[in-house]
Amino acid sequence: MDLIQRPRRLRQNLNIRRMTRETLVHPSKFLLPIFVTEGSGVKTPNKNLEISYTFSVDSLLKYLEEIKSLNLPGVLLFGVSSKRDALGSEALNRESPVCRAISEIRERFPNLIVGTDVALDPYTDHGHDGLFEDGRILNDETVDVLAQMACLHAQMGAQMVAPSDMMDGRVLAIRKALDKMGSADTLILAYTAKYASAYYGPFRDTLGAEVFGDKRTYQMDPSNRREAKRELALDTSEGADIVMVKPATLYLDVISDFRANSSVPVAAYHVSGECALIEAGVKAGVCERKPAVMEAMTSIFRAGADIVATYYAVEIAKWLEA
Ligand code: PBG
Repeated sequence: MDLIQRPRRLRQNLNIRRMTRETLVHPSKFLLPIFVTEGSGVKTPNKNLEISYTFSVDSLLKYLEEIKSLNLPGVLLFGVSSKRDALGSEALNRESPVCRAISEIRERFPNLIVGTDVALDPYTDHGHDGLFEDGRILNDETVDVLAQMACLHAQMGAQMVAPSDMMDGRVLAIRKALDKMGSADTLILAYTAKYASAYYGPFRDTLGAEVFGDKRTYQMDPSNRREAKRELALDTSEGADIVMVKPATLYLDVISDFRANSSVPVAAYHVSGECALIEAGVKAGVCERKPAVMEAMTSIFRAGADIVATYYAVEIAKWLEA
C-alpha cells in the first residue's frame, strides 16, 4: 500500500508515544478529599470507600506527615459529626474538628492548601445542605449561614472555601463577606455544576447522613447541559476563582463546556460512587486497578479539567512517582 498517512508511526514505541501524548497527569493537579471527626486516635476506613479514611484531628496530622513527600497541593476537608440539629449549628462552632484541623494543618503544613467544604449537611439532622422548613430548603437564609461558615474557616486559616450546597447567590455572598473581613486572598472553589447524582452513596454513608427526601430542588438535573453554562456564568460573575463539575466521568461533556466557556480554572470531583464502581469492577475481575483509575483520570483531564478532586490522589501520586 502506498499510504502517506500512517497514524501508527506515532505509536510505534514508548518514547514516541510519550513525546506525542496530549494529556499529562501530574500530582500537582490533585486535591485529596479528607474526612475529619471528633475524638482522638481515630483512623477508620470509610464504608464502600476503603481507600479513604475518617480521621480525628491528631490522626489526620500523622497521615498528612506520612504523605507529605508526595507533595500534593492541597486537601478538601469534610466534617463528620455526631452533633446534628435542625439548624446545623455545629457548622459555626470554632471548636469543631474541622476548625481545629484547619488551624493545626495551617501551622504544621504551611504550604498545603487547606480547602474546606462549605455546606450544612454534616451538621443538620435532616441531612440537607441548607436550612429546611415546611418541606422547603430556604435559599437566602442558608446563604447567610454559609457566608458565616466560610468566614469562620478563613479565620481559622483555610486558603480556599468550597461551597457545595448549590444555593443561588452564595458565591457572591461569600466573596463579599470574606472581603469585608479582610480575607480578600481566600479562594472560592465553587461547586458550580453539581448534579443530583446517584453516585454520592459512600460519601453520605461516611457522613452518616440520612437525607430527608432528596436534593433535587437545589442540585442539578443530570439531564441538563445548557443549565450548567448558566451556573458557570453566574458563579464566575459572582467571583468564583475555580469552578467545579461534579461528578466527573459521567459529566465529561459539561467539563469540556466549562473549559471552552470559562477563563478561570476548571476542577472536577471524581466522587465516592465513581471510586466505588472502579473498586467493585476490580474485585469482580472486570478491570485492573491502576490502568482503570488512570484511564478515568486521563479522561477527566482530556475533557478539559485543570484540577481533579479524588480519593485516589495519594495512590496516583505514588504511582506517578514510582
Ligand atoms: C454535600 C456533598 C456531597 C458530596 C460532597 N459534598 C453529597 C451530597 O450532595 O449529598 C459528595 C461527594 C462524593 O460522593 O464523593 N455537601
